[in-house]
Amino acid sequence: MWVYLNDRFVPQEEAVVSVFDHGFLYGDGVFETLRAYRGRVFQLSEHLNRLERSAARIQLALPAGRDQMAGLVREFLQRNHLQEASLRITVSRGAGEIGLDPTLCKAPTLVIIARPFQPYPESLYTEGVLVIVARTRRNLPEALPPQVKSLNFLNNILAKMEAKAAGAHEALMLNHRDELTEGTTSNVFVVQQGRVRTPAVEYGILEGITRGWVLQLAAELGIPSEETRLTVEDLLRAEECFLTNTTQEVLPVTRVDGQLIGNGRPGGITRRLHASFRAGLDRFLDRE
Ligand code: PDD
Repeated sequence: MWVYLNDRFVPQEEAVVSVFDHGFLYGDGVFETLRAYRGRVFQLSEHLNRLERSAARIQLALPAGRDQMAGLVREFLQRNHLQEASLRITVSRGAGEIGLDPTLCKAPTLVIIARPFQPYPESLYTEGVLVIVARTRRNLPEALPPQVKSLNFLNNILAKMEAKAAGAHEALMLNHRDELTEGTTSNVFVVQQGRVRTPAVEYGILEGITRGWVLQLAAELGIPSEETRLTVEDLLRAEECFLTNTTQEVLPVTRVDGQLIGNGRPGGITRRLHASFRAGLDRFLDRE
């Protein structure tokens, strides 16, 4: 596999980053996870927009412009003959002396890696998954804004460890006011009285690209939706629940902390949204 590192493609074994890199020392940097279908990236410009927003929020100047970055991603897929893949773009502050000051780093480090997409077992979609509500709270937006997709993922990792210990697929996190935010790598939706509801950005979430598209799909299908305030009670009372992210698309949740959601089967609206997601994919695939 070829890896893109800073200014060139190098064989994977040669793709090494300095031990002085502030991404390694302090988690100082940002990233994006993208998905390619049939060799074309889904929602590429949305991902590059978010990368730019994340970088701007931490005053990190991206080492490549928008067109260059898109070109690199396309070249990456071609060079590696990847059709179905998940890709990751990482930009860290770069190598510099020890110390928090970002100006110690002369140039950011840019890395693009990928792997062939490993499909999730179909049973996850036909049976639904178990989630827990984590004890770990989501970072305060005033401390480390969840809207920044940063290399500082310990908040999510702590919650993920709780999910694993409980045998759950995902852990949902509350904020400090007991409001529902999101999963460790996913956004969460509930269906209540036929209405699709998801936590609004202000409650402390990453504005997921899949989330955005699911809201758009709901509108196209004539299903009412809202970005709002949700609590654990809403979750437990929901008729349906699902998660969204770039690699899992629309994934039904059928149990929360051992309690069944609705009748314990993936819901009809969830299935409709996922079917429309797949049917409409082509609209958002990068050019050939
Ligand atoms: N995760 N919330 C968090 C905290 C995430 O990390 C992600 C994405 C999402 C969903 O966003 P999107 O629909 O744009 O993928 C929500 C990716 C998959 C990751 O961490 O690699």
